[in-house]
Amino acid sequence: KRELKIAPSILSADFARLGEEIRDVEAQGADWIHVDPMDGHFVPNLTIGPNVVAAIRPHVKTVMDVHLMISPADTYIEAFANAGSDILTVHAEAGPHLDRTLQAIRGFGCKAGVALNITTPLSVIEYCLDKIDLILVMTINPGFGGQKFTHSVVDKVAAARKMIGDRPIWLEVDGGVDPTTAPLCWEAGSDVMVAGSAVFKGGTPDDYGKNIAAIKNA
Ligand code: DX5
Ligand code: ZN
Repeated sequence: KRELKIAPSILSADFARLGEEIRDVEAQGADWIHVDPMDGHFVPNLTIGPNVVAAIRPHVKTVMDVHLMISPADTYIEAFANAGSDILTVHAEAGPHLDRTLQAIRGFGCKAGVALNITTPLSVIEYCLDKIDLILVMTINPGFGGQKFTHSVVDKVAAARKMIGDRPIWLEVDGGVDPTTAPLCWEAGSDVMVAGSAVFKGGTPDDYGKNIAAIKNA
């Protein structure tokens, strides 16, 4: 049975207090913690590297869901795995040998995810589904939090759900997810909702609890 999970993206957290922010959202109902490393090359922003992931690891009691927006990704798989990632997701567009990258991720003991940009068709993962634990359908162009949800991608979420069939693969959406757009993703078949600005807005643990509940109840 499909179970809804909320994965707050710490990109919208207070970077000076990451450990505390993680503990607070987990206490307020976060199911996973979503982490967004960016390289200033694959996407036009720079965020966090393996050292920061290792530093926050002890604060994460749930699941550390690491979404790599770096290209090529292969060089850094080992470092992010050793930093304590539970799930490592790479972009299908980030390198020519996705199948090899997925094998490397599982080889280092992590669950393997594939992220698809808005314009990337589902067909790129058709022949490696057995090596995938998570499909991440991007509902924005990656690089920044707080952008608007892309409605045309909801059809791809539905097609991905169909493609998954009874395989044990999570279907995650990322970008512009809030109480208005989350129900569309859930109806299309997504089970993991990443939300940054919609969870961290307000800035207090009390706000986080209300914001997470608003998405879950929507
Ligand atoms: C952006 C990241 C997202 C981002 C989402 O490239 O992948 O995880 O933090 O932020 P919101 O929920 O504000 O769109
Ligand atoms: Zn992300």
